[in-house]
Amino acid sequence: MVGSLRTGADRSVRCGLACLSVVRKLYVIGIGAGDPDQVTVQAIKAMRRVDVFFVIGKGEAKRELVDVRTAILTEHLEHPYRIVEIADPPRERTVGDADYRDVVRDWHERRAALLAGAFAECEGVGAILVWGDPSLYDSTLRMVERVAARAPLDYEVVPGITSAQALAARHRVVLHEIGEPVHITTGRRLREEGIAAEGSTLVVLDGETSFTHVSGDDLHIWWAAYLGMPDEELIEGPLGAVRERIVQRREELRADKGWIFDIYLIRRVPPQG
Ligand SMILES: C[S@@+](CC[C@H](N)C(=O)[O-])C[C@H]1O[C@@H](n2cnc3c(N)ncnc32)[C@H](O)[C@@H]1O
Repeated sequence: MVGSLRTGADRSVRCGLACLSVVRKLYVIGIGAGDPDQVTVQAIKAMRRVDVFFVIGKGEAKRELVDVRTAILTEHLEHPYRIVEIADPPRERTVGDADYRDVVRDWHERRAALLAGAFAECEGVGAILVWGDPSLYDSTLRMVERVAARAPLDYEVVPGITSAQALAARHRVVLHEIGEPVHITTGRRLREEGIAAEGSTLVVLDGETSFTHVSGDDLHIWWAAYLGMPDEELIEGPLGAVRERIVQRREELRADKGWIFDIYLIRRVPPQG
């Protein structure tokens, strides 16, 4: 059930295979979207109360995402702790929208079962370190709710800096115009529905450069990859003028690393002058 057991830095310890009790207190901690300096003081204080960190692995290609978490622990913790890595169960491919929801629900159920099993094998205070913030396109809280529905579990959320905030900060841009809405969506939905009729559109989880499916002379894009990480890359400009550059750069970066995290904001900007 538990994929592997690792020690987290010199200060961490392994506990025996047979633990005495189960994890009944859990922190779900947002750790920011890549820059270790964006971990909040509140997050560090919570981490210092934790005995065992549960990390859901994403395979070798995305090992860097796990490594960022372990580096944060090494930097901020001095007490003994354990890291339990759980292999993420594979997700089936989907066809339509209804199918997508069923597949994702089933995947959450399988992940929740793995988590429940891992909690049952450990003791003390647990934590899950969540990329960015748990409120934004992350299923951790849904899984934890499922686990808590089966067994007593007291859980607390510590917020983190989202990739949306990191994007806005790096481009020095406000996510919306004065009094206007901002619509947060995925690449898949952008392809199907286009940009929001009003305001700004923020897009995450886009594996297929869905911005190439929207057009308009007045559209402007603020794009970023690997925010806060050593390979961070930013491109900004009129969509028509920078579209091809983003597609090309994205392809090169993905080929180099084997995976990519990118996010962008698009909105209509009236012509200057
Ligand atoms: C599963 S979602 C998780 C979002 C996360 N909970 C947050 O608060 O940012 C993953 C998506 O977030 C965006 N993302 C997360 N970290 C990023 C980063 N460092 N640079 C660019 N995009 C990032 C990408 O769109 C990626 O596909």
